[in-house]
Amino acid sequence: MKCAEAGNMSNGLFSHLLKGAWLLWQVLFVAGTGSKLWEVPTASFTSSSNLSEGLHWVPHCQNRHPQDRVRITADVPPRLDGTWVSTRCEVRPGPEFLTRSYTFHPNRHLQALQHYYTDSTCGDPAYSLLIWGKLRLRQASWITSGGTEAEPHLSKVGIVVHSVAARQRLASGLPPVCVGLTLGRVVPGKLYELYNTRAGRGCLAALGFSMMELGLIRVEMQHHSHGGKILELFLGDIHTDWTQRTHYRPTGYQQPLQNAMHHIHPCPVCALVYRSSEQRPPVLPRRSAASASLAGRWVSQRCETRPTVLFLTRDFSFDPEQQVWEGIYRHYSDPFCSQPMFTLRASGHYAQGNPSSKVLGATEFVFKVTQVRITAMEEPTAKLLNETRPGKCGRAGGWEVGVEQDLTPTHGCTVLGIKLPHKEFELFKFEPDHRKHPLLFIGERPTDGSSPDRPQKRPTSFQAPMVLCSGGERPHHQPPHHSESGFNSKQVQVTGNGTERLTQLVLLLLGSVLCSLSGIH
Ligand SMILES: *[C@@H]1O[C@H](CO)[C@@H](O)[C@H](O)[C@H]1NC(C)=O
Ligand SMILES: *[C@@H]1O[C@H](CO)[C@@H](O)[C@H](O)[C@H]1NC(C)=O
Ligand SMILES: *[C@@H]1O[C@H](CO)[C@@H](O)[C@H](O)[C@H]1NC(C)=O
Repeated sequence: MKCAEAGNMSNGLFSHLLKGAWLLWQVLFVAGTGSKLWEVPTASFTSSSNLSEGLHWVPHCQNRHPQDRVRITADVPPRLDGTWVSTRCEVRPGPEFLTRSYTFHPNRHLQALQHYYTDSTCGDPAYSLLIWGKLRLRQASWITSGGTEAEPHLSKVGIVVHSVAARQRLASGLPPVCVGLTLGRVVPGKLYELYNTRAGRGCLAALGFSMMELGLIRVEMQHHSHGGKILELFLGDIHTDWTQRTHYRPTGYQQPLQNAMHHIHPCPVCALVYRSSEQRPPVLPRRSAASASLAGRWVSQRCETRPTVLFLTRDFSFDPEQQVWEGIYRHYSDPFCSQPMFTLRASGHYAQGNPSSKVLGATEFVFKVTQVRITAMEEPTAKLLNETRPGKCGRAGGWEVGVEQDLTPTHGCTVLGIKLPHKEFELFKFEPDHRKHPLLFIGERPTDGSSPDRPQKRPTSFQAPMVLCSGGERPHHQPPHHSESGFNSKQVQVTGNGTERLTQLVLLLLGSVLCSLSGIH
């Protein structure tokens, strides 16, 4: 799909576009302008460091109520104290289905509980892991702006197997003896030690288990206009390639856990997960099959972070009758999506396939990208594209900030790794949110930046969900991109008033896209 190219793009983008952005950041940094573009990493945190960023990325559709606006802040370093829980059945590449409850104590000790299931609705618990350890926050991440690097030290991992069938499956995949534990003989419901500091990690690795996710951390606080606040904990992403996952250092995030005391209401899953223990795993209620249609316009709920360091929002429109789609990926250089870098608009055809046999409830799709248009939103990006060889990436010498270029005549853009036309194998699913509004989950992009251009590379997990803009709004087909360049982040940051203007701005911003990064899906 659109993203097909997107995947490729990310590699190229990285190596090319990003270099420009990176240079620019360094210049700003050195100049000491205090620009928000760059978050100064502190060598180490002192108790008083407070690099709280202010702001707000505001999603959304025209018809959203201004009251829905939220202001988002994130402290660096993050404050982790408390218990953080899954808000739904989580799907990891593989696929693996799990729920998590992590507790951080002020003395840096942590206790994490992970419940694994055999089914995609988290209704049939297989086993639970109880993890004890310590976490040391190290420094603001240089790679993933807004994130904090941390170092987990595991002291112990315990396992409780919940059924005889689960025991059999585990025993067949693990070394016969782990830490003196003979898996074939464990009693369901009883806690056994699977790892301690004296034992090797063979058993953990065989399970595909690691806590590398604690290597990158971000806590976002949403301040709602009605006075409520919601705390979300973003932990590092899990590599989509199973063989990489135990040593991959994350540069993107998983879907956030929410603070047990400050979460979105209602959240029945939060309560179940919060009250669970290794002996009593949460059994999530079966959902009625969400029978939503793809038709309409779907947008990101928030500023999203991709493993390879870019920040973006997505905005897709699908027309099931014509089987055509358009995806707009807006890329930014900051974690609040306030500094636009470039916008990618991809379009083409798609076909719905069979229900997925790996992720029950999800559906397979094939996307074809036939057209990609790009708008540079800042000078360095325009310059980089402008310097490509003639015939390789749009009209060489014709790139200008705010002016869209069609890459179709050059069959893509070599420097961005975009090839046209391009095909992608996808996995979609629908799920209702806490207000019973439909959410669209599109397949996770391969972490290595490649594209799922073969059926074997079809995703088994998902990106952040998108929300439907109700009312069947049409995507704005008028070229909105010319005007976009006129907005800068300062305007975006006007949160106090100017609601209408903000809404307009957001609309404009949303309109674009990014396949590149990862897009699409
Ligand atoms: C950072 O500063 C803000 C405003 O001064 C304050 O409300 C917040 O509690 C501080 N955070 C930390 C971690 O000190
Ligand atoms: C792109 O190249 C053309 C021709 O060399 C030049 O006139 C124009 O200023 C360049 N644009 C940018 C944004 O560098
Ligand atoms: C912003 O809102 C405040 C109160 O909500 C109001 O007093 C003020 O006049 C508004 N400013 C503008 C520029 O609309």
